[in-house]
Amino acid sequence: MKMDDNIKEVLIAEDEIQKKTKEVAQILSDEYRDKNPLVVGILKGALPFMADLIKEMDIFLEYDMMDVSSYGTAKASSGEVKIIKDLDSSVENRDVLIVEDIIDTGRTLKYLQDMLIRRNAKSVRFVTLLDKPSGRVTDLTVDWKCFNIPDEFVVGYGLDYRENYRNLPYVGILKEEVYY
Ligand code: XMP
Ligand code: MG
Repeated sequence: MKMDDNIKEVLIAEDEIQKKTKEVAQILSDEYRDKNPLVVGILKGALPFMADLIKEMDIFLEYDMMDVSSYGTAKASSGEVKIIKDLDSSVENRDVLIVEDIIDTGRTLKYLQDMLIRRNAKSVRFVTLLDKPSGRVTDLTVDWKCFNIPDEFVVGYGLDYRENYRNLPYVGILKEEVYY
Protein backbone atom coordinates (compact mmCIF):
# COMPACT_ATOMS: atom_id res chain seq x y z
CA MET A 1 0.00 0.00 0.00
CA LYS A 2 1.52 3.31 -1.09
CA MET A 3 0.54 6.76 0.15
CA ASP A 4 0.36 7.91 -3.48
CA ASP A 5 -2.55 5.56 -4.08
CA ASN A 6 -4.68 7.64 -1.69
CA ILE A 7 -4.06 10.92 -3.51
CA LYS A 8 -6.74 12.21 -5.87
CA GLU A 9 -4.77 15.16 -7.18
CA VAL A 10 -1.26 16.55 -6.81
CA LEU A 11 -1.79 20.26 -6.19
CA ILE A 12 1.86 21.32 -5.98
CA ALA A 13 4.58 19.03 -7.29
CA GLU A 14 7.87 18.42 -5.52
CA ASP A 15 9.99 20.30 -8.08
CA GLU A 16 7.66 23.32 -7.92
CA ILE A 17 8.01 23.41 -4.12
CA GLN A 18 11.79 23.13 -4.31
CA LYS A 19 12.10 25.85 -6.96
CA LYS A 20 9.83 28.29 -5.14
CA THR A 21 11.46 27.59 -1.77
CA LYS A 22 14.84 28.53 -3.23
CA GLU A 23 13.45 31.80 -4.60
CA VAL A 24 11.85 32.74 -1.29
CA ALA A 25 15.00 31.75 0.63
CA GLN A 26 17.01 34.13 -1.54
CA ILE A 27 14.61 36.99 -0.81
CA LEU A 28 14.72 36.21 2.91
CA SER A 29 18.52 36.07 2.88
CA ASP A 30 18.66 39.57 1.42
CA GLU A 31 16.06 40.80 3.91
CA TYR A 32 17.69 39.32 7.01
CA ARG A 33 21.38 39.55 6.17
CA ASP A 34 23.37 40.89 9.16
CA LYS A 35 20.25 40.76 11.38
CA ASN A 36 20.94 37.28 12.80
CA PRO A 37 17.21 36.47 12.77
CA LEU A 38 15.54 33.92 15.01
CA VAL A 39 13.71 31.61 12.62
CA VAL A 40 10.82 29.92 14.43
CA GLY A 41 9.16 26.83 12.98
CA ILE A 42 5.69 25.85 14.14
CA LEU A 43 5.50 22.11 14.86
CA LYS A 44 4.79 19.76 13.42
CA GLY A 45 3.69 20.91 10.01
CA ALA A 46 6.39 23.45 9.26
CA LEU A 47 9.28 21.02 9.71
CA PRO A 48 9.85 19.89 6.07
CA PHE A 49 9.44 23.41 4.67
CA MET A 50 11.63 24.97 7.35
CA ALA A 51 14.38 22.38 6.80
CA ASP A 52 14.47 23.07 3.06
CA LEU A 53 14.16 26.83 3.48
CA ILE A 54 16.97 27.39 5.97
CA LYS A 55 19.39 25.23 3.98
CA GLU A 56 18.96 27.68 1.12
CA MET A 57 19.55 30.74 3.33
CA ASP A 58 23.22 31.62 3.22
CA ILE A 59 23.24 33.99 6.20
CA PHE A 60 23.86 33.76 9.93
CA LEU A 61 20.65 32.79 11.69
CA GLU A 62 19.39 30.86 14.69
CA TYR A 63 16.38 28.60 14.69
CA ASP A 64 13.97 27.31 17.25
CA MET A 65 10.66 25.45 17.22
CA MET A 66 7.32 26.06 18.93
CA ASP A 67 4.39 23.72 19.30
CA VAL A 68 0.97 25.31 19.62
CA SER A 69 -2.60 24.16 19.39
CA SER A 70 -5.90 25.97 19.13
CA TYR A 71 -8.38 25.53 21.91
CA GLY A 72 -11.68 23.78 21.11
CA THR A 73 -14.04 25.32 18.59
CA ALA A 74 -15.76 27.52 21.17
CA LYS A 75 -12.55 29.26 22.11
CA ALA A 76 -10.94 29.09 18.67
CA SER A 77 -13.06 32.07 17.65
CA SER A 78 -11.38 34.11 20.35
CA GLY A 79 -8.07 33.22 18.73
CA GLU A 80 -6.74 31.75 21.93
CA VAL A 81 -3.83 29.42 21.39
CA LYS A 82 -2.28 26.96 23.80
CA ILE A 83 1.52 26.83 23.92
CA ILE A 84 2.57 23.19 24.11
CA LYS A 85 6.27 23.84 23.64
CA ASP A 86 7.55 27.37 24.03
CA LEU A 87 10.73 28.85 22.56
CA ASP A 88 14.04 28.03 24.24
CA SER A 89 15.43 31.43 23.30
CA SER A 90 14.52 34.97 24.30
CA VAL A 91 13.05 37.09 21.50
CA GLU A 92 13.97 40.36 23.22
CA ASN A 93 15.19 42.77 20.55
CA ARG A 94 15.37 39.97 17.95
CA ASP A 95 14.06 39.91 14.40
CA VAL A 96 11.77 36.89 14.45
CA LEU A 97 10.73 35.04 11.31
CA ILE A 98 7.90 32.57 11.90
CA VAL A 99 7.71 29.64 9.47
CA GLU A 100 4.33 27.96 8.88
CA ASP A 101 3.06 25.22 6.64
CA ILE A 102 -0.34 26.79 5.98
CA ILE A 103 -2.30 29.88 6.99
CA ASP A 104 -6.06 29.62 6.99
CA THR A 105 -7.99 31.87 9.40
CA GLY A 106 -4.75 33.50 10.55
CA ARG A 107 -5.75 33.17 14.20
CA THR A 108 -2.77 31.07 15.24
CA LEU A 109 -0.21 33.47 13.83
CA LYS A 110 -2.03 36.58 15.00
CA TYR A 111 -1.93 35.23 18.53
CA LEU A 112 1.77 34.36 18.28
CA GLN A 113 2.66 37.72 16.79
CA ASP A 114 0.93 39.58 19.62
CA MET A 115 2.63 37.34 22.19
CA LEU A 116 6.13 37.80 20.75
CA ILE A 117 5.68 41.55 20.45
CA ARG A 118 4.69 41.65 24.13
CA ARG A 119 7.96 39.83 24.78
CA ASN A 120 9.72 42.74 23.05
CA ALA A 121 10.70 41.14 19.76
CA LYS A 122 12.05 43.81 17.41
CA SER A 123 10.02 42.42 14.51
CA VAL A 124 7.75 39.42 13.93
CA ARG A 125 7.15 38.45 10.33
CA PHE A 126 5.83 35.37 8.57
CA VAL A 127 6.74 33.03 5.78
CA THR A 128 4.36 30.24 4.83
CA LEU A 129 4.45 27.44 2.31
CA LEU A 130 0.71 27.66 1.64
CA ASP A 131 -1.93 30.32 2.06
CA LYS A 132 -5.70 29.91 1.91
CA PRO A 133 -6.63 33.60 1.61
CA SER A 134 -10.35 32.81 1.44
CA GLY A 135 -10.27 31.45 5.01
CA ARG A 136 -8.91 34.60 6.63
CA VAL A 137 -10.81 36.08 9.59
CA THR A 138 -7.96 38.27 10.91
CA ASP A 139 -6.07 41.21 9.44
CA LEU A 140 -2.80 39.24 9.49
CA THR A 141 -0.16 40.39 7.03
CA VAL A 142 1.56 37.41 5.40
CA ASP A 143 4.97 38.76 4.54
CA TRP A 144 6.18 35.95 2.28
CA LYS A 145 4.39 32.94 0.84
CA CYS A 146 5.18 30.25 -1.68
CA PHE A 147 1.71 29.34 -2.95
CA ASN A 148 -1.93 30.36 -2.68
CA ILE A 149 -4.33 27.43 -2.65
CA PRO A 150 -8.12 27.18 -2.80
CA ASP A 151 -10.14 26.34 0.31
CA GLU A 152 -9.53 22.59 0.12
CA PHE A 153 -8.08 20.23 2.69
CA VAL A 154 -4.55 19.34 1.64
CA VAL A 155 -1.90 16.90 2.86
CA GLY A 156 1.81 16.37 2.33
CA TYR A 157 5.04 18.26 2.88
CA GLY A 158 4.25 18.57 6.60
CA LEU A 159 0.46 18.62 6.38
CA ASP A 160 -1.39 15.66 7.79
CA TYR A 161 -4.61 13.75 7.83
CA ARG A 162 -4.76 12.00 11.21
CA GLU A 163 -0.98 12.42 11.49
CA ASN A 164 -0.23 10.58 8.24
CA TYR A 165 1.00 11.96 4.90
CA ARG A 166 3.33 14.57 6.45
CA ASN A 167 6.27 12.89 4.72
CA LEU A 168 4.88 13.16 1.18
CA PRO A 169 7.30 15.30 -0.85
CA TYR A 170 4.42 17.15 -2.57
CA VAL A 171 1.09 18.73 -1.60
CA GLY A 172 -2.05 16.90 -2.65
CA ILE A 173 -5.73 16.26 -2.08
CA LEU A 174 -6.92 12.94 -0.69
CA LYS A 175 -9.46 10.71 -2.37
CA GLU A 176 -12.87 10.93 -0.68
CA GLU A 177 -12.89 7.24 0.28
CA VAL A 178 -9.75 7.71 2.37
CA TYR A 179 -11.49 9.87 5.00
CA TYR A 180 -12.90 8.04 7.98
P1 XMP B 1 -5.20 29.20 11.28
O1 XMP B 1 -5.07 29.73 12.66
O2 XMP B 1 -4.54 30.07 10.23
O3 XMP B 1 -4.42 27.83 11.39
O4 XMP B 1 -6.62 28.86 10.90
C1 XMP B 1 -3.85 27.16 10.36
C2 XMP B 1 -3.74 25.74 10.83
O5 XMP B 1 -4.89 25.03 10.36
C3 XMP B 1 -4.55 23.73 9.95
N1 XMP B 1 -4.96 23.57 8.55
C4 XMP B 1 -4.72 22.49 7.79
N2 XMP B 1 -4.07 21.34 8.04
N3 XMP B 1 -4.52 20.59 5.85
C5 XMP B 1 -3.97 20.39 7.07
O6 XMP B 1 -3.37 19.35 7.28
C6 XMP B 1 -5.19 21.72 5.51
O7 XMP B 1 -5.67 21.85 4.38
C7 XMP B 1 -5.29 22.71 6.54
N4 XMP B 1 -5.87 23.94 6.56
C8 XMP B 1 -5.65 24.44 7.82
C9 XMP B 1 -3.07 23.63 10.15
O8 XMP B 1 -2.85 22.93 11.36
C10 XMP B 1 -2.54 25.03 10.27
O9 XMP B 1 -1.43 25.13 11.12
MG1 MG C 1 -3.12 19.14 11.39
